[in-house]
Amino acid sequence: MRKKFICGNWKMNKTTQEACQFASEIRGMEKKFEGVEVGICPPYTALQAVHGVLDGGSILLGAQDVAWAQDGAYTGEVSPLMLKEVGCTFALVGHSERRTLLDESDELINRKLLSALQFNMTPLLCVGESLDERERGMTERVVETQLRGCLAGTDAKALSRMVIAYEPVWAIGTGRNATPHEAQEVHAFVRRFLAGRFEAEASQDAQILYGGSVTPKNAAALLAQPDIDGALVGGASLDVRSFTDIIQAAREIAQAV
Ligand code: 13P
Repeated sequence: MRKKFICGNWKMNKTTQEACQFASEIRGMEKKFEGVEVGICPPYTALQAVHGVLDGGSILLGAQDVAWAQDGAYTGEVSPLMLKEVGCTFALVGHSERRTLLDESDELINRKLLSALQFNMTPLLCVGESLDERERGMTERVVETQLRGCLAGTDAKALSRMVIAYEPVWAIGTGRNATPHEAQEVHAFVRRFLAGRFEAEASQDAQILYGGSVTPKNAAALLAQPDIDGALVGGASLDVRSFTDIIQAAREIAQAV
């Protein structure tokens, strides 16, 4: 049985003080999250302080990206070792904002994913098509190419140590989420791809999250889909109330099965 995972990606938002305030509020509600995995990805600058607030509890701390190397002359990069040191257990890789704004390639994302795995961090790999690609009927082809490239050199055992997020670019920050049906179709496709690329059992166990304009209003319908195992939440994760309402929606679905 796959557990639902609700993960907040704060992007470039919140000072350390604001991040700690948020963390201590949700830390106090942990009991209400039972049965659902919850994680947050604050900006780098807040990680250590937020870890201090979450330490010893069940809420996971993640980074929004990770470097492909352990150390060296890589100005501006932060290595998996450094992220682990400040309490991160997972890191996003391949977020579409990095793909589009910073030109990150599948090959680079693959190196980041392998580097996270090497240091026992869980990579949370994001894939998804642009509006133009969807309108041209290329969604599956684009997602498959991204998965193939980003997962190069991994095996079924590695798959069991990562999380995948389907985030259609046209749904990110636009207020236009994929419908539950549209999202489910792509999630089922991702799972079929994983079954072929790895093993059927490993693909059944893989957590595949949906991201793109998830809100307390649409979360329940999305999370009720058979292949949607959680949500990667941007805007709605910045507010304690809306973030915890999404967690609550996941919990109700988890309890119903
Ligand atoms: P929004 O929820 O703001 O659309 O962002 C989604 C996202 O990019 C999460 O990584």
